[in-house]
Formats: sequence, structure tokens, C-alpha cells
Amino acid sequence: MIRILGIETSCDETSAAVVEDGRTILSNVIASQIEIHARYGGVFPEVASRAHVEAVVPIAERALADAHVSLGDVDAIAVTRGPGLAGSLLVGVNFAKGLSLGRNLPLLGINHIESHLYAVWLGEDAKEPVFPALALIVSGGHSEIILMSGHGQYQRLGGTIDDAAGEAFDKVAKMLGLAYPGGPVIDRLAERGNPLAVAFGEVRTKGEVAFSFSGYKTAARVYAQRSGIEPLAHPDDPPSSALLDLVAAFRYAVVRELVRRTRQAIQAERPRALVLAGGVAANRLLRAEFTRLADTHGLALSIPPPRYCADNAAMIVKAALPRLLAGEDGTEGLDATAHLPLGGPEATRRTRRHR
Ligand code: KG4
Ligand code: ZN
Repeated sequence: MIRILGIETSCDETSAAVVEDGRTILSNVIASQIEIHARYGGVFPEVASRAHVEAVVPIAERALADAHVSLGDVDAIAVTRGPGLAGSLLVGVNFAKGLSLGRNLPLLGINHIESHLYAVWLGEDAKEPVFPALALIVSGGHSEIILMSGHGQYQRLGGTIDDAAGEAFDKVAKMLGLAYPGGPVIDRLAERGNPLAVAFGEVRTKGEVAFSFSGYKTAARVYAQRSGIEPLAHPDDPPSSALLDLVAAFRYAVVRELVRRTRQAIQAERPRALVLAGGVAANRLLRAEFTRLADTHGLALSIPPPRYCADNAAMIVKAALPRLLAGEDGTEGLDATAHLPLGGPEATRRTRRHR
């Protein structure tokens, strides 16, 4: 039996988890800083790292307590090393290093994007991975299409050239006076609006699988101004039907773009499985469209349950297990790296060929 303690501090959630054999989640404690960042309408890096400093020790202690284990029962430590906010990453990495050195435990430094991917194979009822898998990873910081041909083998096929999908949701929500983070709020309100009430044109980008969402954000702002849609004075105020239509059309446009690019990548790469991961994978319309896309192309589909879509430490452990089994130990020289791409130089060459 292999028990790993995972630590995640890359953005605005401090999380720690204990997972056994990559299957049994003994604990997965998440302390969100949402209330703090809601005051600013976004994540403030300085504030985030300070909050991690305060939370990391009690959250790790709680993860051990909830799992009814002590550090002596743990076989390895896994921690997010990047990408993310430099100051926030540093808190988790330094804490994990300390534990690993103090207890003489192997230390695994995990890529945050990779861990979002592994979240789809988390939990007792999760399916076994099927490769090659084509993955769309969409969060507040990333919108990436990755071809995964095996554990640890990634080719980045494309990504966003401006805003990440989640970031676009959050910015449009902020502009309309909706609560932070805006993705889940827009998703909920969009169910009550007419997605065809406002036409968002198709985005043209040079790369075959490049996303661009900032144009939609601008289009939403211009439309709101022209149609006299005022931002809500308070996030709990009842939204007008025009505002509901606007958010429904915006969600529709973003999802249509994500699906269109993913379909292109499926046709080019002919994978056996389709994966949807990251915080935006909680989006109802996107989940429904991916189910349809997988059916149409006869692909196995893996989407994490909504509770594993957002940042959490159990997914860090899930990504760490195959690395630990392969003998990896990053005790020496593990650093927090704010910009950490997934996929090597080969991936970059492939992306260029697509253009
Ligand atoms: O993966 P995550 O928890 O943190 C990052 O690594 O960024 O993703 C958070 C992002 C936020 O931008 C949030 O607005 C978005 O995911 N999000 C959603 C939904 N739930 C969360 N976006 C659209 N629809 C949702 N249901
Ligand atoms: Zn994330």
C-alpha cells in the first residue's frame, strides 16, 4: 500500500490530501481564499501567498487527521511545482521540502496542468486511462489542448493566445457586477437566458488549434454598453433578461470555440480517448458538448466529477503516483517554477507544423 501526502498552493486554494494507491482518497482538504479575493474581483498574488503561509501547516495537519494517519504512515510527499503564482508555489514547495528532508521521504514535484489531467482518473469509480488521449485543460490560468500518449508523455498541440477560458468568464462576470469567481455564476445564469439572442462571431487565429477569448470579452462589453445593460449594483440583485441572454450567448460562444478546436485536433490526431479537465470542466454546457463530441467520434470520455475539477491536492497525488513508481525522486533541486510548460521541445515543433 502506498500513501502519498499531496500539497497544492499554486493559486488561491491551499489544499492537502492523503491518497492511498492513487485510488482511495483518505482526505482532500481545501481552504479557499475566495472570500478574500472576491473583495478585489480577482486573485492578488501578494495576498494569496500570505494566506498560503498561514494555511499550509494547519491544512496539512487536518489532511493527516481526517485520514487518521500520521506523517510516519506516509510513503512520499507530492507538491505542485508550477505553473502558478511564484510566491504561492514557493510556500507549498518549501513546506514539502521541509517535510521530505525532515522525514527522509521521496519528494515529487508535479506540474499543475498535469495534475488537472490526472483528476479525471481520481476516485474509486474512475475509469482506467486509455491512450492516446486528447485532453482539453481549461482553468483560470490555462486553455490547452494536449495529446497524452502515455503516463508523463505529452505533446502540447495548442493553447490560448490571450485570456484563458476561465479568466474570460471571470472578467465578463466582473464587468457585469456578478460574484467572483464568475465562471460558475455565468454557468448558472446562462441556463435562464437565450444563447442565440446575441451573435458572437467566430474567432480567427493563425494556429489551427489556437484559442483567443479576449475578443469575446470585448464584444460582450460593447454589446452591454450599446444595449444599456448596467452592471448589477450588488451581485445578489436579480439580473435583467437582457443580461441573462448576454451571459448565455457568451457561454455558448466560448464553449463552441473550445469544442470546434478540440474537434479539429481529434480529426488530426485520431486519439482513442477524450479528456476534459480543469476548473472550467465544471461547466454544464461544455460537459454536455464533450459528451456529444466523444459519442460522435466513438471515443472513451473522461471528465472529473465537479468536485475534482477545481484545484485540489488529491489530483497532485494522482499525478505523482506513476512518477514515484517509476523511481522518480525530486528531493534534490526541486524549485517552484511559475512558467512550467507541459510537453517538451517536440511538442513545440508539432504546434508549429499545425500553422
Ligand atoms: O482549475 P481552477 O480551480 O484554478 C486554476 O488553476 O485556474 O479553475 C478556476 C477557474 C475560474 O476561472 C472559474 O471561474 C472557472 O474555473 N470555473 C468555471 C466553472 N466553474 C469554475 N467556468 C465556467 N463554468 C463553470 N461552471
Ligand atoms: Zn488549476
